Amino acid sequence: MKERAVPCFGNGELGMVVPVFLAAVFLLCSGIPAGSSPLAVQIKRTRGPRDEPFVGLNIGTEVSNLVSPEALVSFLQVQKIAHVRLYDANPDILTALARSKIRVIISVPNNQILAIGSSNATAVAWISRNVLAYYPKTLITGIAVGDEVLTTVPSYAPILVPAIEFLYSALVAANLHNEIKISTPHAASLILDTFPPSQAFFNQSLSSVIVPLLRFLSRTGSPLMMNLYPYYVFMENKGVVPLANSLFRPIAPSKEMVDPNTLLHYTNVLDAMIDAAYYSMKNFNFTDVKVLVTETGWPSKGDSKEPYATIDYADTYNSNLIKHVLDKSGTPLHPELTSNVYIYELFNEDLRSPPVSEASWGLFNGDLTPAYLLHVSDTGGFLANDTTNQTYCIAMGGVDSKTLQSALDWACGPGQANCTEIQPGENCFKPNNVKSHASYAFDSYYQKEGKVAGSCDFKGAAMITTTDPSRHSSFFLHQGKQQHRAGKFHRLKWCSQQIRAHHLKKWRDRCIGEGISTSSSNTFLPFLFNSYVDATLSYRPMTVDLWLDEIHSFVIVP
Ligand SMILES: *[C@@H]1O[C@H](CO)[C@@H](O)[C@H](O)[C@H]1NC(C)=O
Ligand SMILES: *[C@@H]1O[C@H](CO)[C@@H](O)[C@H](O)[C@H]1NC(C)=O
Ligand SMILES: *[C@@H]1O[C@H](CO)[C@@H](O)[C@H](O)[C@H]1NC(C)=O
Ligand SMILES: *[C@@H]1O[C@H](CO)[C@@H](O)[C@H](O)[C@H]1NC(C)=O
Ligand SMILES: *[C@@H]1O[C@H](CO)[C@@H](O)[C@H](O)[C@H]1NC(C)=O
Ligand SMILES: *[C@@H]1O[C@H](CO)[C@@H](O)[C@H](O)[C@H]1NC(C)=O
Repeated sequence: MKERAVPCFGNGELGMVVPVFLAAVFLLCSGIPAGSSPLAVQIKRTRGPRDEPFVGLNIGTEVSNLVSPEALVSFLQVQKIAHVRLYDANPDILTALARSKIRVIISVPNNQILAIGSSNATAVAWISRNVLAYYPKTLITGIAVGDEVLTTVPSYAPILVPAIEFLYSALVAANLHNEIKISTPHAASLILDTFPPSQAFFNQSLSSVIVPLLRFLSRTGSPLMMNLYPYYVFMENKGVVPLANSLFRPIAPSKEMVDPNTLLHYTNVLDAMIDAAYYSMKNFNFTDVKVLVTETGWPSKGDSKEPYATIDYADTYNSNLIKHVLDKSGTPLHPELTSNVYIYELFNEDLRSPPVSEASWGLFNGDLTPAYLLHVSDTGGFLANDTTNQTYCIAMGGVDSKTLQSALDWACGPGQANCTEIQPGENCFKPNNVKSHASYAFDSYYQKEGKVAGSCDFKGAAMITTTDPSRHSSFFLHQGKQQHRAGKFHRLKWCSQQIRAHHLKKWRDRCIGEGISTSSSNTFLPFLFNSYVDATLSYRPMTVDLWLDEIHSFVIVP
C-alpha cells in the first residue's frame, strides 16, 4: 500500500505554510532583463538534443475498479503519454510498462525511507527488487525518494539524504547512475516568501538537510523535485493573486506581477514559483540544479468551500499548462530552461478522503472515461482529440422557457442559425423541449459566428461551456476490424441527449455480460465502450454489430 502525502497545503493538522504572495507588487515597467544566465549555460551543456521539455502524468491508484495494468499501458499509449510517475514501484504496472517506451519515475514510499536510510544493504536490495528486476525493458528514469518528507514527516529529515546516498551507491554499483536520477519531491511550503521570487529562500531551520541534498543533486546532475500548486496559492491569497495569473490566462500588462528587485514580469504563478525555487537554491550558492515539477494541477470538483474547483478552471489550467511547457518559453529568470512537469494526476482517485477536491484532480476516471476534455489539440496528439479545442454555447440552466423560446425564435429567425436538425422528424428534434432546441440553436449560431465575443449571450439565456453538450453520447464507431487496424474510423455523433433509455439498457447489459464494465451509469456507456475499444485496440464483433444496429440514431460527422 502506498503512503502518500496529501498534495495540498490545506491539510490542517500538518500545519503547512502556504507560499505568500502578499508582497506582490504591481508596477508598470518595461524592459525585461533577458539573456543567458550562468545556470542556463551550465545546464544546457548537459542537455542533449532529445531533452525536449515534456509533460508527464502522476498515477495515483486509489481508484475503485481500476483497469488492469495492461489496459492502463495501452491507454497511456493511445493518449500519447510518454512520461509517468508512480507513488511506489508497483510490480504489475512496471511489468506492463515493459517495452512500451514509456518513461517512469518510481517512488520510495515515505514509510520505507527509514529502513533504507539506516542500511546500505536495504538500499541495495530495494534497487535490486524495484529497478534491476525491470530495467532496461521498463524505462525507469528516476527515483523519487519519499514525497514531501521534510514537511509531512520532519522526523525523517536526518535520514533522507543518507537514504538517497545509499540508493545512489547501489545504482552506481549497477552502473545505472547516469540513466536513473534520484531526488526527492518537496512541498512548495518548503520555500518561504515566494513573491517576489528574488527574495524567496528555503526554510532555514531545514538547511542542515537541504544543503547536503543540493550538494548531492549538483554532484549527480539530478533535479530539484518540487510539487507546485498555483491552485493553493490562489485559494490562500484570494484578492491578492489574480485568478487569471493562476490559470495562465492572458492578462493585461498592468496585471503582471513584477519582481521589484529584478524587474522581471511574471504573467503566471507557476513560473514565479519555479523561479522562487531557483533563487532559493542560489541563496545556498547552488546554480546548476534544474527544477523538475513533480506535481501540479487543478481539481475539477470541490465542495462548497472550494468554488474554484470546477471543470472549466481545471481544463483551463491543465490545457494552458501543457501549452506553456510545450512552447518551451521557460521562466522569466530562465527563458532558456523549461521545466518538465508532471500533472497531478491521471485518474480521479475516488477512494481518497474528503475534501471533495481530493478525489477530483484527475484528467480521467478510473474506467478511462475523460473527467473533462482538455483544449490541447495542437500538441501533437498528446492528450488530445482533434475535436477538443472546442467551446460550445448552450442554454443556461434556470432560465424560464418563455425567455428561452424568444431567444430560440431569434436564433433560428433573424440570427440565421441552422435549425434544420431540430425540426419535427429530424435527427435532433427529440427530446422535444425548448431547452434542448435552444441549446442546439445557440450553439449553431455561436459556431457560425466564429465564437466571437457576444455571440453566446442571448440576453443572458446562454452560456459558454467547454464540455461538448453531446459528449455523453458521442463516440467513435469502428467500422470493422480492417479499418480499425488501419486506424480509420468515422466519428458518429449523437444529437445531444437523444439517448434512448432502452438502447442504453440493452448495451449496458451486454457490456456487463461481456465483463467489459460493471458500471451502472447509463450516461457514460457509449463513452466507456469507445474508451475500452481505444484502450485495448481490440474489440469484440458484438460491439460493432450492436452499434450498427442502432446506426439510424446517429449523425455521421467527418
Ligand atoms: C554501500 O554499498 C555500496 C555498494 O553497493 C558501496 O559502494 C558503498 O561504499 C556503501 N556505502 C556505505 C556507506 O557503506
Ligand atoms: C520551517 O521548518 C520547521 C521545521 O520543520 C517548522 O517547524 C517551521 O514551521 C517551518 N517554518 C515555516 C515558516 O514554515
Ligand atoms: C555563498 O557564497 C558566498 C560568497 O562566496 C558566501 O559568503 C556565503 O557564505 C555562501 N553561502 C552559503 C550558504 O554557503
Ligand atoms: C477522444 O475522445 C474520446 C471521447 O470523445 C475519448 O474516449 C478518447 O479517449 C479521446 N482520445 C484522446 C486521444 O484524447
Ligand atoms: C485552439 O484554441 C486556441 C485558443 O483559442 C488557438 O490559439 C489555437 O489556434 C486553436 N487550435 C486549433 C487547432 O484550432
Ligand atoms: C443545415 O444543417 C443541415 C444538417 O446538418 C445541413 O444538411 C444543411 O446543409 C445545413 N444548411 C446550411 C445552410 O448550412
